[in-house]
Amino acid sequence: MTVNPMNLYTKRKNVFLEGKSIMDNVRLSIHKEFQIGQIDRRIYGSFIEHMGRAVYSGIYEPDHPLSNQLGFRQDVIRLVKELNVPIIRYPGGNFVSGYRWEDGVGPVSQRPKQLDLAWLATEPNLVGINEFIQWTREVNSQMMMAVNLGTRGVSAAKNLVEYCNHSGNSYWSDLRKKHGFDSPHGIKVWCLGNEMDGPWQIGQKKAEEYGALAREAGKAMKWVDPTIELVLCGSSSSGMTTFPDWDATVLDLAYDTVDYLSLHAYYGNQKNDTLNYLACTLDMDRFIHSVVSVCDYIKAKKRSNKTINLSFDEWNVCYHSDDADQKIQPWSMAQHRAEDIYNLEDAIVVGLMLITLLKHTDRIKMACMAQLVNVLAPIMTRENGGAWRQTIFYPFMHTSLWARGTVLYSVLDSPKYDCKDFTDVSYVDSVAVYDALSGEIAIFAVNRNLEDCIVLKCDLRSFGNCRFVEHLTLTHENPKAVNTEQNPSSVIPHTIRSSIIKDDELVAELPSLSWNVIRLKTI
Ligand code: AHR
Repeated sequence: MTVNPMNLYTKRKNVFLEGKSIMDNVRLSIHKEFQIGQIDRRIYGSFIEHMGRAVYSGIYEPDHPLSNQLGFRQDVIRLVKELNVPIIRYPGGNFVSGYRWEDGVGPVSQRPKQLDLAWLATEPNLVGINEFIQWTREVNSQMMMAVNLGTRGVSAAKNLVEYCNHSGNSYWSDLRKKHGFDSPHGIKVWCLGNEMDGPWQIGQKKAEEYGALAREAGKAMKWVDPTIELVLCGSSSSGMTTFPDWDATVLDLAYDTVDYLSLHAYYGNQKNDTLNYLACTLDMDRFIHSVVSVCDYIKAKKRSNKTINLSFDEWNVCYHSDDADQKIQPWSMAQHRAEDIYNLEDAIVVGLMLITLLKHTDRIKMACMAQLVNVLAPIMTRENGGAWRQTIFYPFMHTSLWARGTVLYSVLDSPKYDCKDFTDVSYVDSVAVYDALSGEIAIFAVNRNLEDCIVLKCDLRSFGNCRFVEHLTLTHENPKAVNTEQNPSSVIPHTIRSSIIKDDELVAELPSLSWNVIRLKTI
C-alpha cells in the first residue's frame, strides 16, 4: 500500500511539510569502509518457554483444524517463518530451573504431569525436547537449549547433552534412538541455567556458588560434545543490586569453560511518559557497554587471549499484562499469562532495541526476543481460532530480512531532547547495514518526535552509484493503536514514495513517531 504521509498524519502536526520544521536536515554520515562488524544472524533469535500459552495453544494445539500430524499449528508455523528466526531458546526462562527434561521424552502417555513452580502452573509434558526440535525444523530454525542449574546440576546437564548430541552406544544416546530419533539433534548452543541471581528463581544461587556450578557443568557438557558453545548467566537485569559484581565473579570462575555471557532487559511505559519510554534504549546501550567492560576486565585479569562475547538472550517490551497476571488461577494449564497487547509505541521501542543490538554487533553474537508466541510475543493466537501479527512483529521481521552483512559506523547529527530519566536523547536513532555481496544497503531509522516529521539526509558517495529500492514506515495517528484478531492490519508497514536519491544523497522523510526501513542497492 502506498500513502502520502501528509494524509496519514492529519492528527499530529507535520511542521516540516508546512516548511517550518526545525527538524529538517538530520544528517547521517556513513562510509562503506568504516565498519563495526559482520552481523551474526543469531541476533535475530527468539524464545519459547513453557509458560502461559507459548507452547500449549500457541505452537501446539492438536485439536486445531490447522494443526499438522504432530499437533503443531501451521498458521503459527507460517508466521514464524515470515520472521526468519535462526535460533530459538527453549524451554525457559524461569521454567527451566525446575525442569526434569526426562519427563518430556519417551511415550507421551507415560509422561508425568508436574507442578511448575516458576509460573504456578501444571505442566503436562506433552511437548518435550524431541517434539520441540521437530518444530524448530518446521520453522527453519535451530534450538538454543537451556539446562536446569536451579534444582539440578552437573549430571542432569551432562546426560542431556549425551541424549541430544551423542551419536550412540551409550545409555542416554541409545535412549534417544529408542524414542525414535536415530540421528543426534546436534544442538550447538547451551545456556547454563537462567537468571540464577534472582530471588524469583527456583534454586537461586550466590555468584560464587553459581560460577563454580556452571564451570563444572559446562566442563562435563563439553567433554561429551566439544563442539557446543556455552552461555553463562550474567545479571538478570542492570537493575539488580549485585550488577555488575555478579557478572565479574561468575565470569572469573567459569571464564575458560564458557563462550558467552548473557544479558536480559525488558522495558515498559508504566507511567505513560512516552518520550521517556522511547529513550529507554539509552539504558540498554549503557548496560551493553558495562557488560562488555566486565568481560574485558576479566580477560585482562586472566591475561587471556580469549574474548567473551554477549548473548542478549531475553529482550523486549513487557508491562501491559502485569495486572492481569495477578488474577491467574494457580496450577491451571495454558494460562493467559504475559499476553501483552503491543501498540505502535511498543513497536518503535522494539525497533530502537534492534538498532541498539545492531550497533553492538562486534560483541553481541546472539539475542533472543522474549518471546515468540502468545507470551510477550510478536505472534498471538486464539485457542481454536486465528493467529495474527502484533505491531512488534514488523521491526523484527524487517531487520531479520534486511539487516544482513556488515554494520557501518554512523555519525548522526540530530536534534535532541531531555526527559525524566535521560538527557541528550536524539530525536532520530538509526543504524546502517551494508551487504557487499548483494550490494544492498539498508538504513533503519526511528523518529522519536511525537509531533514532527523529520528529514534524514545521507551522503552515499562512498558506495558509488546507488538506486533507491524502497522506504517502508510503520506509524499510526494513534500511538496506542494495536492489532487484534478482528483488525489485524491496523498497524502495518506502508510505503513512502517521496524519499529519493538526488546527487548521490538520500533524502528520506521520517514521519513523526515512526519506524523506517530505507533500502538501496549499488549499481
Ligand atoms: O520471558 C519471561 C521471563 O522473564 C523468563 O522466564 C525469565 O527468564 C525472565 O525473568
